[in-house]
Amino acid sequence: MAESSVAGAVREDRLWQRHADMAKLGGTPKGGVNRQALSAEDAAARNLLGTWAKTRGFATFTDAIGNLFVRREGTDAKAQPVLSGSHMDSQPTGGRFDGMYGVLAAFEALEALEDAGVKTRRPVMAVAWTNEEGSRFQPGAMGSAVFAGHNKLDEMLQAKDWKGVVLKDALAETLKAAPAPRHEGPPGFPLDFYVEAHIEQGPRLENEKKTIGVVTAIQGSRRYIVSTTGEEAHAGTTPRAARKDAFRAALQIATAMYEATNDGGDTLRFTIGRVDVSPGSPNTVPGKAVFTIDMRHPDEAVLEAHEAKLAAIVAARAAPCSAGIERVTAVAPTIFDPRVIDLVRTKANALKLANMDMPSGAGHDAMHIARLCPTGMIFVPCERGVSHNEAENATPQDLAAGARVLAEVLAELANR
Ligand code: GLV
Ligand code: MN
Ligand code: MN
Repeated sequence: MAESSVAGAVREDRLWQRHADMAKLGGTPKGGVNRQALSAEDAAARNLLGTWAKTRGFATFTDAIGNLFVRREGTDAKAQPVLSGSHMDSQPTGGRFDGMYGVLAAFEALEALEDAGVKTRRPVMAVAWTNEEGSRFQPGAMGSAVFAGHNKLDEMLQAKDWKGVVLKDALAETLKAAPAPRHEGPPGFPLDFYVEAHIEQGPRLENEKKTIGVVTAIQGSRRYIVSTTGEEAHAGTTPRAARKDAFRAALQIATAMYEATNDGGDTLRFTIGRVDVSPGSPNTVPGKAVFTIDMRHPDEAVLEAHEAKLAAIVAARAAPCSAGIERVTAVAPTIFDPRVIDLVRTKANALKLANMDMPSGAGHDAMHIARLCPTGMIFVPCERGVSHNEAENATPQDLAAGARVLAEVLAELANR
């Protein structure tokens, strides 16, 4: 059957409806979602995807870190699969499309192949990677990192959320609530190609009136936790000179860090996204403060140089408290495979979709899988580039356009 029948079988209404159905799971009053990794809402999303897969006769299975796979068989059962997907977990105040689009676009591609009656030599699989966001459990992109062998399963199972819940327990509960056949052994199996669709999460496509972003690279990223320790004391009686105020030390450190990471050109991204002060009482001088740092840049050497600066600031600015900085994640910049980049561009052009090459500012599971097999990504616009925000929005037309490109790319790769 002609390739164009695959793109033609992508159904905009079905894809849009699936987003609406998923958005109910963890839906917030402001129209976003709170579906954090390994929560009850995450389990509900897994079950819904599983139900849809079953209806279409696709097999599903999970691995030991909870990555959920959907498999459409090829004619050669022994051939390595072509994989596509993203994540279903969200930020605490997340949008309906970050991650979920990549999973639903991959599932739509499987359905389009099925509806068009297209047989492929290789199996085509969709995946929902566990804990991409890394907002509840650190580090993020965990499922794909374990799959690729970059993070150790045993260590990840011991990760704790901010309330002290151990990941292993949350995972067991999730898989109990959303049962699926188990892929035995450690996570990971050979892949032929991986392609991930995602909303851009920035404004470039919209500003330049393009429908498809042909993603060439992902900038490198590092995350840290900074802790300051002082001494709890009475807020009314303790003179300034006698205080060891852990929040004040954190503030001094943070202020110096904002200055040290201002690179003039606005390429280096530096974010303090979470601050915990304890004991958290208005009339006790804080004895402990903990804050997170997310730092990104396309050049690994720049990240390395700034890591040294951050460490020096922690050492110099904590007095009279003590302080430490711990690196939680380091992911090097990713350059995608030219074969996938070219194929995405070729298919977008064939479908007459305005497109442009662009790097990704956000991190994605594709950055880990790119070290396993030839990998690429497809971006579609999102309104005003707003993401990690409940107001995140995209049009049904753009989502379907990206799914058409994806379906064509997967169909071609699966027949190589
Ligand atoms: C993923 O959400 C990221 O933080 O880039
Ligand atoms: Mn995402
Ligand atoms: Mn995200």
